[in-house]
Amino acid sequence: MHIHTSIAALRAVRAQAGRVAFAPTMGNLHDGHIALMRAARRLTNADTVISSIFVNRLQFGQGEDFDKYPRTFEADRERLVAAGVDHLFVPTETEMYPQPQRYHVTPDPEHASILEGAFRPGHFRGVATVVLKLFNIVQPDFALFGKKDYQQLIVLKNMVNELALPIEIIALDTIRTRDGLAQSSRNNYLSPIERAEAPRLYRQLSIVAEAVRNGVCDFTRPCAVALAELERHGWRPDYLTVRRRADLQVPEQPGEPLVVLAAARLGTTRLIDNIEI
Ligand code: PAF
Repeated sequence: MHIHTSIAALRAVRAQAGRVAFAPTMGNLHDGHIALMRAARRLTNADTVISSIFVNRLQFGQGEDFDKYPRTFEADRERLVAAGVDHLFVPTETEMYPQPQRYHVTPDPEHASILEGAFRPGHFRGVATVVLKLFNIVQPDFALFGKKDYQQLIVLKNMVNELALPIEIIALDTIRTRDGLAQSSRNNYLSPIERAEAPRLYRQLSIVAEAVRNGVCDFTRPCAVALAELERHGWRPDYLTVRRRADLQVPEQPGEPLVVLAAARLGTTRLIDNIEI
């Protein structure tokens, strides 16, 4: 695997790379990321698989975990080699942001100011801006993202669509540990006791998903029960709600494809998860 730290070097590689599949990350890689890398080769038939590691300051709010976000480059490098990634782009902060970024992608508030966006103002603006910048550097034919960050996926799909970027977005199912916990870099923050408690989030989402599948039409009831159950076990939930998959708005018609999404704090760690219904 070749490692590149400058935009110029990555562009030179890209010019010779044929069809490119790209999986951007912030590092601290887990099985979910590795599944993206393997799928990049398997699902796309791309000639070249490129990944990136860049902890993007723009998408962290004041008081969030930018400084303590785990940086584990050596372990990440080894995992990417094993996953068959051809090129890794690891820009420094000054390479990506040589001056404070003044031009941004501002996603539609209908997608970006609800759910995660209501609790992390500016988060999706930071994500969309860095992803557009990475897309402009890498110029991939395919880009792969996990469904764990469901709202991020919706925002990025809409960005690609509305800005006519010639990139096919491929979404991959969330990878879970045996007890159901969604793989996330932030799981590393959990104490052993919190780690044992953490799968409850998925279990509660599963109960709501099951109720909806069984024909419950008033979603507020199972969601309220799930929220209460989390609170009873020491969680501080931000939201747990059933939305339309397509645009994350409140469902209006029967039969629309749905997703149940949640975010909740366990101790000082904020976890998110979702299940497509
Ligand atoms: O999902 C992530 O890890 C990040 O939000 C991304 C897409 C790499 C942008 O920094």
